Amino acid sequence: MDTHKKLLILGAGKMGGSLLRGLTASNKLDFDISVIEPNLSNDIQKLININAIEYYKSAENIKDPDFDLVIFAVKPQAVNEVCKGLVKNLSQKKIFSIISILAGTKIKEFEGFFKESPVIRTMPNLAVSEGSGFTALCGSINVNKSFKAIASRIFSEVGEVIWVDDEDMMDVITATSGSGPAYFFFLTECLALIAEEMGMSQQDSYKLSRQVALGSADVMRNSTESLASLRKKVTSKGGTTEAALDVLMDSEKEFYNIFKKAIKEAFKRSKELSN
Ligand SMILES: NC(=O)c1ccc[n+]([C@@H]2O[C@H](COP(=O)([O-])OP(=O)(O)OC[C@H]3O[C@@H](n4cnc5c(N)ncnc54)[C@H](OP(=O)(O)O)[C@@H]3O)[C@@H](O)[C@H]2O)c1
Repeated sequence: MDTHKKLLILGAGKMGGSLLRGLTASNKLDFDISVIEPNLSNDIQKLININAIEYYKSAENIKDPDFDLVIFAVKPQAVNEVCKGLVKNLSQKKIFSIISILAGTKIKEFEGFFKESPVIRTMPNLAVSEGSGFTALCGSINVNKSFKAIASRIFSEVGEVIWVDDEDMMDVITATSGSGPAYFFFLTECLALIAEEMGMSQQDSYKLSRQVALGSADVMRNSTESLASLRKKVTSKGGTTEAALDVLMDSEKEFYNIFKKAIKEAFKRSKELSN
């Protein structure tokens, strides 16, 4: 743990900010955290003030750059420019470890700039801000056990983690888990809109759909039963849920296939971003 004390988070937007929120809330990891972010949001600014985090508008403002670990949380489109800037401004005398959360950005891109740095590519999702994220991790060949353990600890503080050996799996994980919360938000939105169309007030329909989503998540969290078994618990023979599920789970698998088509598009986009 001692070898990775000084942590730099590059980019505190939606994901970098969520990770920072999760890491400071968990309060268990003993890092000196610094953040580089050109445009701080008000809530991240507050978080930085409360937790006495070092803040820089850009890498050029850092006087004594000797980080042990750098987490990249910028947009994939910005990575080349950011890496070039880091090579110029941060000391390369000290070899820092790299964790990337960038979609579609391969380990070898970082290795091109920081030849000796061990690199761990990750794909977290937005729920890391709530401590209930899901993160897949994949390491370069020079990642040792201790760095692996640190990366596991960082992301375990903010949710569940898995390791994958094959970097190509990151595209599957991006399409299913990275983008995943948006699918559930959309389903919740649909439920609210339909309830509203069927006569409920807008306020009540949003209250209802959010609570259905939260309640279902709680049931899944607290149960060891399979998802199919939980579904069957709500489905009485000849009842209302069965009537709805007969449509959702029709023999043509229409709903399943459209969902799969959407995820395959996300997968394709992740691959395009990598090339
Ligand atoms: N959003 C998700 O759910 C999600 C899930 C998994 C992975 N990711 C990955 O996380 C990364 C960030 O995504 P995001 O949604 O958090 O995007 P975002 O909100 O745009 O955050 C990126 C942040 O980096 C800042 N930035 C730009 N150049 C910088 C520099 N040179 N140094 C430091 N910071 C810089 C940006 O500032 P400006 O706005 O001023 O440019 C922005 O605040 C992406 O690579 C994405 O693939 C996102």
